[in-house]
Amino acid sequence: TKDQLIMGIETSCDETAIAIVKNGREILANVVASQIESHKRFGGVVPEIASRHHVEQITLVLEEALAQANVDVKDLDAIAVTEGPGLVGALLIGVNAAKALAFANGIPLIGVHHIAGHIYANRLVTEMNFPLLSLVVSGGHTELVYMKEHGHFEVIGETRDDAAGEAYDKVARTLHLPYPGGPHIDRLAHEGKATIDLPRAWLEDGSYDFSFSGLKSAVINVVHNAQQRGEEIVPEELAASFQESVIDVLVTKTQRAVKEYGVKQVLLAGGVAANKGLREKLSTDFADSDVEIVIPPLSLCTDNAAMIAAAGSILYEKGQRADLTLNGNPGLEI
Ligand code: KG4
Ligand code: ZN
Repeated sequence: TKDQLIMGIETSCDETAIAIVKNGREILANVVASQIESHKRFGGVVPEIASRHHVEQITLVLEEALAQANVDVKDLDAIAVTEGPGLVGALLIGVNAAKALAFANGIPLIGVHHIAGHIYANRLVTEMNFPLLSLVVSGGHTELVYMKEHGHFEVIGETRDDAAGEAYDKVARTLHLPYPGGPHIDRLAHEGKATIDLPRAWLEDGSYDFSFSGLKSAVINVVHNAQQRGEEIVPEELAASFQESVIDVLVTKTQRAVKEYGVKQVLLAGGVAANKGLREKLSTDFADSDVEIVIPPLSLCTDNAAMIAAAGSILYEKGQRADLTLNGNPGLEI
């Protein structure tokens, strides 16, 4: 049988990314043009700048992906593109590029949910073993997703305010660390002790939802109070205390869901999956259990298009097709 070749296109936020994946599992090309440098001085992603960069980059990224994979557009079985959620102006660049390519070459088009993509990054590392649970933690999302089979997503918990990565970025800003702040807080946290008492939002009994805005405000208060008293805070201690609180809630709720749903695997996904403290705690806490913890390499945890192609591969097999009315949908539900 012929190999299946899927192209993935991802432009939902600040990475222009195109990848080509063979048979849903093997990466032939994975090109990511990051815009972080352009957004750094604003302390976050500026939507208009993001859109303009996508327009400037997408043709170059496409040519590089095709060259890397040594594939002709005509050989592709489908083009999978992130249709949402994300920044609408950014999404539109990828969606329109995908539509143009699909139309001009007579290739099927598939719309992919960005979070489904993050979860399917795991299929590029290992076989997915159902039922499973995915902890999706990124700059825009904090979700516990239960999957009983391919293409079936049940969100059992989500953030009610800030996403985990967003909280990291805001706390980093309070400590005058550069954007994106997650990696800096992570590094500092490993250099200090968690000496400061910070809240943990467990929410109602049995809830798998998350909330990080109270924790974020508590950190900001600690910094302001110290400033008013003319005292120094130790950034390493604050970072360690903040990180301990975030990880405690994420891992405890994941453990509880693992038991309740009787899953075989826990898949980590999203940019915050790069967090060393989170990786360590998940690995040690589940070391003695039968549950397999899967943590993709860093390059597949942050936004990329190989994950979109991997999710697209399953949707392609399930017969899902989009037509040329496909649009960017910033609030798309999984
Ligand atoms: O998945 P991603 O690349 O983009 C979104 O879809 O949001 O995630 C980016 C987020 C940022 O908030 C960044 O600070 C966070 O992931 N991040 C981290 C770490 N590395 C990246 N957060 C905590 N610890 C890290 N090591
Ligand atoms: Zn993402």
